[in-house]
Amino acid sequence: MTNSTVKKLFEKMTIEEKIGQLLQLSADFFQGNSAVITGPMSEHHLSLKTLYQAGSVLGVSGAKRVRAIQSDYLAHSRLKIPMLFMADVVHGYQTIFPIPLALTASFDPSVMKNASEVAASEAAAGGVHVTFAPMVDLVRDPRWGRVMESSGEDPFLSSVMAQAAVKGFQGEKPLANEHIAACVKHFAAYGAPEAGREYNTVDLSEWRFREQYLPAYAKAIEAQVLLVMTSFNTLFGVPATANQYLMRDILRKELHFNGVLISDWDAIGELITHGVAGDLKQAASLALKAGVDIDMMSFAYAHYLKKATDVDSNTKKLIDESVMRILELKDVLGLFDDPYRGISEEREAIAIKTHKNLASAQHAAEQAMVLLKNKNHILPLKQQQRLAVVGPAANTGEILGSWSWQGDSSTTESYISALRRHFLNVSYAQGCGFHQINLQEVQTAMKIARNSDVIVAFMGLPQSDSGEATSMTNLCLPKEQLTLLARLSELNKPMVIVVNTGRPLVLTDVDAESDAMLISWFPGSRGAEALANILDGTVEPSGKLPMTFPRKLGQIPVYYNAYSTGRPIQGDSSDNENKYLSKYIDESNEPLYPFGFGLTYADLIVTDLRLNQKTITPNKSIHVMAVVKNRSDRDGLAVVQCYIHQKVGQTVRPIKQLIDFIKVIIPANSTKTVEFNLTSDKLVSVHSDLAKHIDVGEYIVMVGLDSEKVLKDTIFVKQNIGELYNDQIKK
Ligand code: BGC
Repeated sequence: MTNSTVKKLFEKMTIEEKIGQLLQLSADFFQGNSAVITGPMSEHHLSLKTLYQAGSVLGVSGAKRVRAIQSDYLAHSRLKIPMLFMADVVHGYQTIFPIPLALTASFDPSVMKNASEVAASEAAAGGVHVTFAPMVDLVRDPRWGRVMESSGEDPFLSSVMAQAAVKGFQGEKPLANEHIAACVKHFAAYGAPEAGREYNTVDLSEWRFREQYLPAYAKAIEAQVLLVMTSFNTLFGVPATANQYLMRDILRKELHFNGVLISDWDAIGELITHGVAGDLKQAASLALKAGVDIDMMSFAYAHYLKKATDVDSNTKKLIDESVMRILELKDVLGLFDDPYRGISEEREAIAIKTHKNLASAQHAAEQAMVLLKNKNHILPLKQQQRLAVVGPAANTGEILGSWSWQGDSSTTESYISALRRHFLNVSYAQGCGFHQINLQEVQTAMKIARNSDVIVAFMGLPQSDSGEATSMTNLCLPKEQLTLLARLSELNKPMVIVVNTGRPLVLTDVDAESDAMLISWFPGSRGAEALANILDGTVEPSGKLPMTFPRKLGQIPVYYNAYSTGRPIQGDSSDNENKYLSKYIDESNEPLYPFGFGLTYADLIVTDLRLNQKTITPNKSIHVMAVVKNRSDRDGLAVVQCYIHQKVGQTVRPIKQLIDFIKVIIPANSTKTVEFNLTSDKLVSVHSDLAKHIDVGEYIVMVGLDSEKVLKDTIFVKQNIGELYNDQIKK
């Protein structure tokens, strides 16, 4: 459709039809082919006429069902405006990829892009038009269960992954039938709830918000994401869904977002429990004024906007703007040309869970797993070694992770099944459940372990312990699992511990019991085969931590890119002598494993950091070069990371901040020079005037294979390019 045709359609709409476009229904309103009001849905007092005017539905998929519902809907719709089908397609539709935190651990944006592309192509075949992904909320507190859905603690890494995901889901505009619209969420700062407690208050200074939390959303918008979702939380004292400053000034004016803004589930209704609206009518008015276009499941707009338009022309104007945005989205998706976007059961059968898609999911899982420890090169294991496989995560298909509603864990291969294919001598005893233990099971596990060369223990958390509404106060492995590990370690056999988790855990005790420790996350449909390939050495482990793993719970939040403080520790023995330092008296400041850390089987080091020049100008970037040496007989996969630290800033600066990274193969016994192009925009900081600047002065450039062990050099900004940069961004 042309713009003017959309406009003509818009002009024919009645006010009820317009308000209908702003209403999103859940799948419960549809039975068989038609919209219905049954059971709890009748509580919402919507008429059938209103249901047949709703602009979108969430959580319905499947070519046959979507076709039937859309066709029934269109038969009832005066202007034949197709309904949008939205769903949470987060890390795969039916082919499930590793959870987003794990995809990020690949440190390879092409892995994130491909996962999103595959998810989009399968979901599109299943009739989905919009996915509620990617979630790009920056996270620093693993007590919050949704860290699994994020890209971790670093603004740059999150930004790169946000862009990759949006491009993967959406492809180019207008969207081809294999792509779907993405919805970046949750605007804003949902990942920083106080004490890691789900839905809790977020209280950030605007300066910090802009420096660290805003960039990933901004990058997704730059990548032309078509929708944004509001967050449940309060920010700057006002719930996001009613926050005009956040939505109108920052999102719309400053970031130039002109797509559709959707509330989170009942977030408009929750303005009442937040205590900023006295009733649903006021909540509707606040959300509309803040610019929320679609009301997901509070029904505030459906019930109250009509009455408001009788008295208030501004409300009418705001509704019109929202409706136009929604119609434009439908148009970009091609729904006016084909309300079904080419779906059929035949297409679905060939598009979903293809050999190629599953292979991509396996590749992603292989890139995502992180090897944290490998004493005496116990890994890779040899095919003929006798393995005693134990642990609650060994024999289950529940390794898909949360937000995989279309995934099927009953047909997902378990780790033990894959290991039996890869190794000649595997025995198995569960030993304990995730949260249960009994003496007999422990004894059976001890028995097989006694007769083995290596114990491989699959520990961790069940998949139900991560995702939305899974905040936790204890991040150690459950005591039953620690008991089993303690008993097994009495045998003095080499022990490999594989940890299934959707979040950083406090693994200090586990680490002490282990010879090797591998984080497998929730690795998805082909996670078991990926894991077996890593354990037998067919595949080189190459994932890196996208979040710091704490040593003790009390260190939380602990993240690598903390700001400089007064009285910092020095990292040497003087720290013990001086009491008045920024430190704990009962624990070191150091995490157990830092951001960016992950071992490889190949023996890799970074040497010879070189810069082609020391001074950076807007037109002349610095080439940062370093040599990566592979001192082993295996090909290695190196994730080379480039950090900076600004010595003196107008505001305090992070001790280190990631500005670039690259994943490269380093063939056995060879060296490769990697190069980063350090442009002046990488040196931007937010001043206390809340604007972006580049300060004159000295910056330390660091390159390494993790955020701790780095080589350093100094560069300078000599002329005031900061002003210039500001002028550029103002234009
Ligand atoms: C979550 C969103 C999700 C929505 C729809 C909410 O509870 O916070 O991330 O997209 O439900 O399923």
